[in-house]
Amino acid sequence: MGKGCRVSKLCILSVVLALAAITTIVTLWTLALTGDDATAPWDRYRLPADLVPDSYNITLWPRLSPDPDTGLYLFTGKSTVKFKCVKETDLILIHTNKLNFTKLENEQIVRLSATDGGSAPSIKSTWLQPETQYMVIQLGNSLTPQQTYELYAEFTGELADDLAGFYRSEYEEDGVRKTVATSQMHPTHARKTFPCFDEPAMKAVFHVTLIHPVGTVALSNGMETDIINTNIDGVTVTQTKFEPTAKMSSYLLAIVVSDYTYINATQGDTLIRIWARRKAIEQGQGDYALNVTGPVLDFFQSYYNISYPLSKSDQIALPDFYFGAMENWGLVTYRETNLLYDPLTSSNRNKETTATIIAHELAHMWFGNLVTLRWWNEVWLNEGFASYVSYLGADYAEPSWDVKDLIVLDDIQRVMAVDALTSSHPLSSKEDSIILPNQITEQFDTISYSKGASVLRMMSSFLSESVFVQGLYSYLNHFAYDNTVGNDLWDHLEMAVKANDVSLPYSVSEIMNRWVLQMGFPVVTIDTGKGMVTQKYFLLDPESKVTVDSPYNYEWVIPITWMNKSGVSRNTFWLTKKEAYNSDFLMDQSWILGNINVTGYYRVNYDPSNWDRLYKQLVTDHLVIPVANRAQLLDDAFSLARAQLVPNVYPLMLTSFLLNETEYMPWQAALNNLQYYYLMFDRTEVYQPLQDHVMKLVTPLFMHFKELTANWTEIPEKHTDQYNQVNAIQMGCNVGLTECQNLITGWFKQWMDHPQHNLIAANLRSVVYCSAIAAGGDAEWVFAWSQYKSATLASEAGKLMSALACTNDTYLLQSYLSYTLNPDMIRKQDATFVITSVASNRMGQDLAWDFVREQWEYMFTEYGVGSFSFASMISGVTARLSTPTELQQLEEFVNEHSAAGFGSATQAVQQALERTRANIKWLELNKKPILEWLTTGSGL
Ligand SMILES: *[C@@H]1O[C@H](CO)[C@@H](O)[C@H](O)[C@H]1NC(C)=O
Ligand SMILES: *[C@@H]1O[C@H](CO)[C@@H](O)[C@H](O)[C@H]1NC(C)=O
Ligand SMILES: *[C@@H]1O[C@H](CO)[C@@H](O)[C@H](O)[C@H]1NC(C)=O
Ligand SMILES: *[C@@H]1O[C@H](CO)[C@@H](O)[C@H](O)[C@H]1NC(C)=O
Ligand SMILES: *[C@@H]1O[C@H](CO)[C@@H](O)[C@H](O)[C@H]1NC(C)=O
Ligand SMILES: [Zn+2]
Repeated sequence: MGKGCRVSKLCILSVVLALAAITTIVTLWTLALTGDDATAPWDRYRLPADLVPDSYNITLWPRLSPDPDTGLYLFTGKSTVKFKCVKETDLILIHTNKLNFTKLENEQIVRLSATDGGSAPSIKSTWLQPETQYMVIQLGNSLTPQQTYELYAEFTGELADDLAGFYRSEYEEDGVRKTVATSQMHPTHARKTFPCFDEPAMKAVFHVTLIHPVGTVALSNGMETDIINTNIDGVTVTQTKFEPTAKMSSYLLAIVVSDYTYINATQGDTLIRIWARRKAIEQGQGDYALNVTGPVLDFFQSYYNISYPLSKSDQIALPDFYFGAMENWGLVTYRETNLLYDPLTSSNRNKETTATIIAHELAHMWFGNLVTLRWWNEVWLNEGFASYVSYLGADYAEPSWDVKDLIVLDDIQRVMAVDALTSSHPLSSKEDSIILPNQITEQFDTISYSKGASVLRMMSSFLSESVFVQGLYSYLNHFAYDNTVGNDLWDHLEMAVKANDVSLPYSVSEIMNRWVLQMGFPVVTIDTGKGMVTQKYFLLDPESKVTVDSPYNYEWVIPITWMNKSGVSRNTFWLTKKEAYNSDFLMDQSWILGNINVTGYYRVNYDPSNWDRLYKQLVTDHLVIPVANRAQLLDDAFSLARAQLVPNVYPLMLTSFLLNETEYMPWQAALNNLQYYYLMFDRTEVYQPLQDHVMKLVTPLFMHFKELTANWTEIPEKHTDQYNQVNAIQMGCNVGLTECQNLITGWFKQWMDHPQHNLIAANLRSVVYCSAIAAGGDAEWVFAWSQYKSATLASEAGKLMSALACTNDTYLLQSYLSYTLNPDMIRKQDATFVITSVASNRMGQDLAWDFVREQWEYMFTEYGVGSFSFASMISGVTARLSTPTELQQLEEFVNEHSAAGFGSATQAVQQALERTRANIKWLELNKKPILEWLTTGSGL
């Protein structure tokens, strides 16, 4: 599955789910639910292993207009599941949720028969168990082991706009309201569509038939094989049958009925189609996706050395979709912003998002779909893997972008910020600690995606890419159409290690277990005076207490790469214990730099003289140090200062080299960290001196881009330069550079004068909209709102949506917040994003926080369960809290609602408490020295 927040840098620091408090709750639940033999099977959340599905025949008929009697949108369905009994039992448990069943003969709601002339036991009683989402069928006699049975049912469900299971999405085209029936089965919503054994290890073949209005098109995982018009109950309808799916998990099923159109291409034997609203396809918004899909598929076929297992690859853009994208096998579903790209108005950021998300989802076609982890406790391996290789796939499709380096900013540094809190959690959990649907949803967090990607990249780097790929191939080949546990992958990598004589200090699993089974990561300290290297669990807050024991005592087996003035060392030094001596690390003239290209998932600290030598190198010739490491030095220094491991002015001192820096990565790393300074200081007297410092640093960058773009008339050639141009303008305008403000206000004015001709360069739109709305008033805001409502391109709408939160007018901010209560103003899927955006504005912080508290009941009912943007909203509205009064407010809020709970934001709430306390302490320690350095010691 694709992350919900990939696109927006705003929510990057916020998708955060982690915590010890929940672990306690989980443990209690587990004891109550599974530990006790007296618990009835239907009260346990996991299916017994007695029955194994073989195939399903499902016919579904979604109604695209409301039922005249109830006003509800409905679907009806018939399903047969063929399953085998593997252990004698007189009980059938099958998942179902929110379905109404039709009575068949004998007042029964199911019909059971045996295949191959066998006989089926009679049904004693049948009932629904809503809590555990089962249909329970108690039989008169036992089922016979090895015998196959069929269970038939007819049912009605609601085609609700709840973005889960079979649901409806609506949009307007040429003034006509249109309805799409679509699906999101993952992780536990297939049961809301038809009765099924809804666990990932219960793989089966799905035969799907869809009945739909004439003139609409129906899609599913398999290719359409048979399309006929027929008459049912006096209505003429179209019936589309699909080729049977490969053997797969129920969460990968997809069904869509729409009046979409498509463009297509073929790559080898594979038919590639991109589906979207007719307008979007006409305007060429699917072209880029079509262009990259072929190369990406080619890349993965050769990377895995296994051909694409299906006959077609459909990808479809949906107006309403909770997650970023979903890797349904053969029919991948996307948020529109993630699939569609308009050459005229989309930015290069949109383009990169499209390429990397397509690569992420297509990577799952093998890793995840062909071979599937047995249970949700190892989600990290599935998501971390796809996230890591998405960079490789995108790099193959767009080799000029240097996109592989960007993992350092977008995943490694981003997740380290979260993983350095005691509220973090290990990548992998115990299988029996993840049982409730809510707990399953919570697994899809930054830790799983970004830390997962980081540690897999580290492994690929210490094994070498070729050994890594060899083990991977062996794993995929051996377990095709089957399920695994993480250890299976380690075993196959170990075989590749042996076959290639790779020298490692321990086995793959012994090394990896330390990164997977304990939370956090180490800081490695190199002391160049003594030649000593040590490791220590890195915690952002030095006073925080770790209450969870680790089986490895928070020690890691760490591959250390390094360089000095004369170049990169060819060896890897393995730190296998707390400390070690290495004469290569003794230095007195030259500097040493550890963790080259940040392939390792750890931070690096040095003795003060080495920091000094690195600093001097940076301010004389920074280009000697690889660009990813220039970003690393800044990010590490800021974090080490937060943890009180280096003096608090080191990071600010290091920023001095930015005066000569034009590369994106170091600037972005600095900005990400200065963001925290702004959050803490933008309501204090440190704000202006900080603005002055940044003004000094950014002015040369602004001028650099002015020159590079021939006075803002051209687009920089390099992908990352295009990003950094945005930074130059954003910071330039934020710190009040007059030339910058005149520039963007002029552009925006021009657009307001000619609303049909937006000449603002696609890449710059986000920053120009935001800066112009911040500098402007009512007129600018109202104009932007009307443009938002009429935007036909989702990514354009997204930019306007976040820019609307940039206004400094509190009345406008207040109205904007209230719009989130009305789905006609702001789509449900976007509401939490709007609130988070308002909170990120220093004028909007208090408003958003008050709003969330006032509207808590609504927020919680609408978004509290199953939406992972809910957690980022909580993180967003609490990010600035840093005074004792604010802490008290937060505590009161938490107490008031703790009885009802916080749903999927449970961990985010705990983190907010922890973070607010840390903010208070940080301000106490840092405000004075930083103010002093900014006003006297900057040396610039
Ligand atoms: C499902 O449908 C296929 C073809 O439509 C048929 O061959 C198969 O027997 C059916 N299976 C069940 C369980 O009804
Ligand atoms: C299911 O039945 C309940 C109770 O009769 C009713 O309230 C609900 O609307 C029905 N749902 C559907 C989807 O038909
Ligand atoms: C897609 O590829 C074609 C052919 O190479 C190219 O002309 C077109 O500009 C590309 N479209 C996009 C949006 O990249
Ligand atoms: C570090 O990354 C750069 C690309 O940014 C690459 O050219 C260089 O070879 C890498 N260095 C090492 C030691 O892998
Ligand atoms: C900037 O570069 C110039 C020339 O390359 C160098 O002399 C100067 O020390 C550098 N300044 C900083 C702050 O990096
Ligand atoms: Zn994924």
